[in-house]
Amino acid sequence: MAEKSTTAQLLIGYGEDSHRLGQGHELWLGGVHVESDRGAIAHSDGDVILHALSDALLSAFALGDIGSYFPDNDPKWKGLESRVILEVVLQKVRDNGYRPGQLVAVVMLDRPKLGPSRAAIQQNLALLCGLPEKRVGLTFKTSEGLAPDHVQCRAMVYLEPIPDRQGDKG
Ligand code: C5P
Ligand code: MG
Repeated sequence: MAEKSTTAQLLIGYGEDSHRLGQGHELWLGGVHVESDRGAIAHSDGDVILHALSDALLSAFALGDIGSYFPDNDPKWKGLESRVILEVVLQKVRDNGYRPGQLVAVVMLDRPKLGPSRAAIQQNLALLCGLPEKRVGLTFKTSEGLAPDHVQCRAMVYLEPIPDRQGDKG
């Protein structure tokens, strides 16, 4: 008879997002407003970190992507705060008995420099995901002029079972 595994199953998820930049739009990253003469042209607030992160979380459970729940051609979601998307997705993660254990995000943007905003973005992501700040890794890169009119993010998450919930499942 096969022995019941006592090793908790760890999951990973991966997501990407990109938006064109345009004047007259705001730049939001990780739920933080970043001073910039250009921002993301988007149906929502165009927060590429929160979109890539939300997709990463859904991918860990093969639950599709954020467009499955918030179609970008539905006027109902116009101007939607990406924080709301992340909250809905995090509830799905919890419903599956998991919680984020670590997240890393790589943002590619030529300007402005994001270094001065790193602490604020890291703090906000930690708060939103219920993680210690040292489990939120942020990397900022320029495209070296290859994509000067875009902001992009790639995000990876590691998920761990919620201990008492796993106990409930026996
Ligand atoms: O892309 P590159 O390696 O030339 O970026 C140099 C450094 O500039 C990065 O390591 C990062 O610390 C910083 N950077 C930033 N904001 C950006 C792009 C890069 O602070 N938008
Ligand atoms: Mg470089």
